[in-house]
Amino acid sequence: MKTACLVTFGCQMNVHDSQRMEELLRADGFELVPEPEGADVIVLNTCSVREKAEQKLRSEVGRLKRLDALVIVTGCVAQQEGERLLDRMPYIDAVIGPDNLHELPGVVRELEGGAPSMVRATFDTEAPRFLVNEATPGGVASSAYVTTMKGCDERCSFCIVPYTRGPERYRSADDIVSEVARLVAAGAREVVLLGQTVNSYRDPAVPMPEGSDPDDSQFASLLRRIVGEAKGLLRLRYTSPHPRHLTPDLLRAHAELETLAEHVHLPVQSGSDRVLKRMIRRYTRDEYVRRADALRSARKGLVLSTDIIVGFPGETAEDFDATLSLVREVGFVGLFGFKYSPRPYTPALKLRDDVPEQEKQQRLEALFELSEAQLRAHLATLVGTRARVLVEGPSKVGAATWAGRTERNEIVHFEAAPGVGPGAFATVEVTRANKHSLEGRVESVAVPAAEKPRSAIRRVALPLVEA
Ligand code: SAH
Ligand code: F3S
Repeated sequence: MKTACLVTFGCQMNVHDSQRMEELLRADGFELVPEPEGADVIVLNTCSVREKAEQKLRSEVGRLKRLDALVIVTGCVAQQEGERLLDRMPYIDAVIGPDNLHELPGVVRELEGGAPSMVRATFDTEAPRFLVNEATPGGVASSAYVTTMKGCDERCSFCIVPYTRGPERYRSADDIVSEVARLVAAGAREVVLLGQTVNSYRDPAVPMPEGSDPDDSQFASLLRRIVGEAKGLLRLRYTSPHPRHLTPDLLRAHAELETLAEHVHLPVQSGSDRVLKRMIRRYTRDEYVRRADALRSARKGLVLSTDIIVGFPGETAEDFDATLSLVREVGFVGLFGFKYSPRPYTPALKLRDDVPEQEKQQRLEALFELSEAQLRAHLATLVGTRARVLVEGPSKVGAATWAGRTERNEIVHFEAAPGVGPGAFATVEVTRANKHSLEGRVESVAVPAAEKPRSAIRRVALPLVEA
């Protein structure tokens, strides 16, 4: 049997895209293997959001050129560099952008037939395509990613995504709801809706009321439809929302819909109004704090995590202090921190990258220290409480055999119990808080393990992941 290996860098969208490419290759007779060595086809699904990600691609491709395999580069670097990748790294056989991934099996067949190296990287602005989960009955992961939209119209001044993923295009709510329903019927229990600004969602089949505010969206209606129509869905998450589209209607949806998780990842980027303005984030610190508070009032117990960039051009020590104070004020329990990295095409390139590397490093460390302390304090408050846990896979922490996630996205480890396995929904009493996770004891099992579960989403993907 022919073999293929997918190596995934970057965000959830890429993990989703890699899963769909695996399905396409499997349908074409490939066996998927975990290591590139020995594979007939190697796909590198790339990220270009920071420079380090691109460097990793280069070193990985350098390593792979010795192997006797077709090497295909997909994703954001593919879109950004196109033909230039083939010029610089002639041992690459094909370059496929995010909107052309469905062409992968055809490209592989052409290359196998002796075709020369090729580039497929055009945005499908006229008739957008979306990659859909296969949803084989009994063969789905307990937690599945579903795309709602692609591209981004925000143009935050630091971000390359609008250039690598193109303008916003939305899937019809009918298609999204029916994919979720098929996944649930096939055994999925949690769905994570994906989009670059997922809550700016607008149904292409349903016009927005005339004169509606540009911040308005139809995301809350989509959530209500999914919960109403995909019976058996136990938990619904979405990532990542943009604070400016956190509409009153979305707040109401959080209050109404029990199925919505009690965790929202709400990227803030900075706590300084001066920096937020230069980042073109379109909200002030105060607006962000008020929206975060409103979310927590809508749903008791809801926790927030965020993304933060340190060392954006012109960020002073005072600006950074404002970020630390915002992290304390909002009380984030999870945080992805990044050092600013100048990216091609982005408006921020015009600003001087003037925060020294050492200073960026120190700010990042201070940020992590604070967020780790907040996470530890938060986890400690949970000892003795009960959590509803979706079991994801095996665990080796202490005496635990299984691990899963709570409604707030905390990881919990626990010992085996009847009915417990991937896909089970259990009530767990939290007995101990570790640095980054919880330990607990299964009290009852509301929904037993799926019969033939595949492992849950690979949140941390494959051999190479960006740190
Ligand atoms: N909307 C996307 C975010 C894309 S990028 C989503 O759904 O997740 C993910 C994060 O990378 C951003 O929130 C930002 O914090 C960080 N990032 C983006 N561009 C960056 C840059 N040039 N330098 C450093 N970090 C960056
Ligand atoms: Fe990037 Fe801002 Fe869009 S971070 S993906 S331009 S919301």
